[in-house]
Order: sequence, then C-alpha cells, then structure tokens
Amino acid sequence: MGIESHRHHNETARRRWGLLARALTSNSNPSRPPGNEVVTNQPQDLISVRRISNFGLIKISPLIDVDWFVYSAGDKFCMKIRHLNQILTPEDLMGFNNTGNVCVWPSEEVLAYYALGHREEFFGKSVLELGGGMSCLAGLYIAKYTDATRVHLTDGNENSVKNVRRIVAANRLDHENDGKVDCSVLKWGEHVQDKYDIVLAADCLFFDSARRDLVRTIWQAMKSNGVGWITAPRRGSTLDKFLEEAQNVGFKYRVSDSYNQDIWDRHLALNRDCNYYNMDIHYPVFIILTKSL
Ligand SMILES: C[S@@+](CC[C@H](N)C(=O)[O-])C[C@H]1O[C@@H](n2cnc3c(N)ncnc32)[C@H](O)[C@@H]1O
Repeated sequence: MGIESHRHHNETARRRWGLLARALTSNSNPSRPPGNEVVTNQPQDLISVRRISNFGLIKISPLIDVDWFVYSAGDKFCMKIRHLNQILTPEDLMGFNNTGNVCVWPSEEVLAYYALGHREEFFGKSVLELGGGMSCLAGLYIAKYTDATRVHLTDGNENSVKNVRRIVAANRLDHENDGKVDCSVLKWGEHVQDKYDIVLAADCLFFDSARRDLVRTIWQAMKSNGVGWITAPRRGSTLDKFLEEAQNVGFKYRVSDSYNQDIWDRHLALNRDCNYYNMDIHYPVFIILTKSL
C-alpha cells in the first residue's frame, strides 16, 4: 500500500470510528431537522449520509408524553406514534439490523401518504407490511382509515415490533379493542403462514445479504392475484438488483417516479432548494409487483 493510500485508509478508518463513537454516546434524535448526520447500516456501512428527515407530507407534533407524537396527514388522518429514541449500545450495533429504529424514513411516510390517497383499494383486503421499522406507519394508517379486513405489521427487529405493539394499543387498533391488527417479528426468509392481498415494504431494498430472502418472502406471502407496493430510493444499483431478483422468481413489476402529485411537487421543491438533496439516495420511487400481468 502506497503512503497516500495508506493515509487515505487511516483517515477513512478514523472517520468511521468517530461516527461509531458518536452513535454509541449520543442519542440519535429522529425529529432533528433535515440535513443532520445520522449513522446508518446502509450500503456504505457506517458512513454518514445527510438525511432528508421527511417529505413534509405528514405533520409531526410532540405530545406531552415523552417519545410520543401525533402524525397528521391533513386534518383527517391522525395517529399517535411512539419514537424509539434509543441510544445505540454495542449490542444494538452488533445485533439485528437497527435502521428501522433510527427514524420513520421518507419511504414509509410516502407509502403511508400514497395509501391514504387510495383507501378504496384496501376494501375487504388483507395486508402485510414487511420491514416496517419502529412505526409501521403505512400499515397503521391502512388499519385505521380503510376497510381492510386484516393488517399484519412486521419487522425482523424485536425492539421495533415491541414499539409497534405499543403504538397499536395506544391507537386502540389491537384485538382487545376489536381492532384488526396483528404484530409480529418476521425475518425475511422465514416461513410465512398466511397469504395476503397486498404486501407493503418501505426502504427495504438495499440490504445486499437479505435481498433474495425479501423477494422470496414477498412471493410466498402474496396471493396469486395479490399486489406488492414497495417504496424505496434507487440508491445506486440496489433497486435494479431487487428488480432482477424479483423477475427471477417470476414477479412482473412497474416502477414509477411520478406516482402522486404532492409527493412529486415535494421532490421538485427539494431538488430546487436543498443543496444536498440527491434524488438517487433520497427520493422513494414506487414499485408495483404482481405475479401475473
Ligand atoms: C431502513 S429500515 C426501514 C424501516 C421502515 N420501513 C421505514 O421506512 O421507516 C429497514 C427495515 O428493514 C428491517 N430488516 C432488515 N433486514 C431484515 C430481515 N432480514 N428481515 C426482516 N426485517 C429486516 C430492519 O429491521 C428495518 O426496520
């Protein structure tokens, strides 16, 4: 290794350890304004990204109870959401993926917002959300504001699912309150017992080692006439790799950039006004998966 590349290597290592140390000692605040650094387990592996906190489609107002917020899409659609304002311990970083406990990512916000604009499509349908993180916001909105018959909210991370259970109870969507929501840990690749009409996933496509399992789980969980609604940024080649895997198992897909005027307008505004906004890593495209045309 030459002196220059050695220096570069050291510098990169130093920066990574700095980020790691900050992650271990600081409380990552999910409600911080756009542009603050966060540490993620994203493809770059512990490289900081400048994050767009949200697309401003859903207003987030703090409640008196610490960690609780009201998420409001317009005046009509409100939900109490608990943030996992967690301090990342070494165990957390070494354990199951924690990206869903950092914040509600824009792909989830966008999926929730899009679903609210298509409420009629859930009439009489069963819905499964995969990798819903600490909120499963899209699935929750569907449970509360549509005539879906069943909504199953899942993630592979136990802390996320525990938090979602608390949110479900606080919004009185659980079975005890005649609700139609189930909540469970589901790791992609594990057997899924039931079949669903609609399978959701937001920002779940960039995990190289889990992509094939994710695709297979969607295939296994989806009815033959079912549909997958997936939102995620393109993020380099990660979306294309997902689509390739999806095609390999037999899925047909449609990818759309401009699928909702409000979301597209927000993208245009960010593109114009925010100097670190990068469509490739920040803008969630919409993918529809079906088993037949
Ligand atoms: C970037 S987060 C997105 C969370 C949420 N959908 C959002 O957008 O706010 C990715 C989620 O995928 C989950 N995940 C990653 N690998 C998984 C796997 N193999 N099985 C199940 N869930 C997984 C993580 O726990 C995390 O919650």
